[in-house]
Amino acid sequence: MAEPSGNNKPADRGRGIVIPDDWPGYRLDLFTHPEHYSEDLDCVYIPHGVIMDRTERLARNIMDDLGDHDIVVLCVLKGGYQFCADLVERIKVLSCNSSKSLLMRVDFIRLKSYLNDQSTQDLQIIGAESLSVLSGKNVLIVEAIVDTGLTMKTLLTHVRSFRPNMIRVAGLLVKRVPNSSGCLPDYVGFEIPNRFVVGYALDYNEYFRDLNHICVISESGKQKYKV
Ligand code: HPA
Ligand code: MG
Repeated sequence: MAEPSGNNKPADRGRGIVIPDDWPGYRLDLFTHPEHYSEDLDCVYIPHGVIMDRTERLARNIMDDLGDHDIVVLCVLKGGYQFCADLVERIKVLSCNSSKSLLMRVDFIRLKSYLNDQSTQDLQIIGAESLSVLSGKNVLIVEAIVDTGLTMKTLLTHVRSFRPNMIRVAGLLVKRVPNSSGCLPDYVGFEIPNRFVVGYALDYNEYFRDLNHICVISESGKQKYKV
């Protein structure tokens, strides 16, 4: 996704863990979840432990590629807060326990384009005025989910206008959608079918961020929290 300056392009590690279209997920009663969402979920799609294990490996890949640089981690709120916090945590552990270290600053930007489970045309970028600090820096954009890639494309154009030295993108989830812009993150956690998922800070109208696993919302859940 990023256009690297010079020849320091990261190894192409592809699509991450690919979840097939017919993946049914796990029955809810095989894991714990908050009681208040009992009626609102169909299944556990990606358990929290698997997310954490995959994040640990992404941290290693990032460290291998960018170790001994200074980076600015740009967390895309709100959905990216949990992934970003866990990814930064794992990079910190590697910085303490390997010969490489990665100096990180962390900044935040907020994007909003979804209403119910549909993407809307008007993308709002909030908090963008502070991005002048990115000039000349190596930027790692951390995003929870990429579907068409259009949001990411808009954000990249915006970030590029502040003239960073390098931009990389880490995305926990990439959705297989028919209308993909082809714009993919450099570091991908999971490639998932085109289903609306919640949890691990991903929301449906601001609900379900308080859920550890990535789950599929039920029809009754959609109705209950519809705006
Ligand atoms: N869940 C939550 N937020 C999203 C999704 C999703 O599946 N796709 C884009 N934003
Ligand atoms: Mg959202």
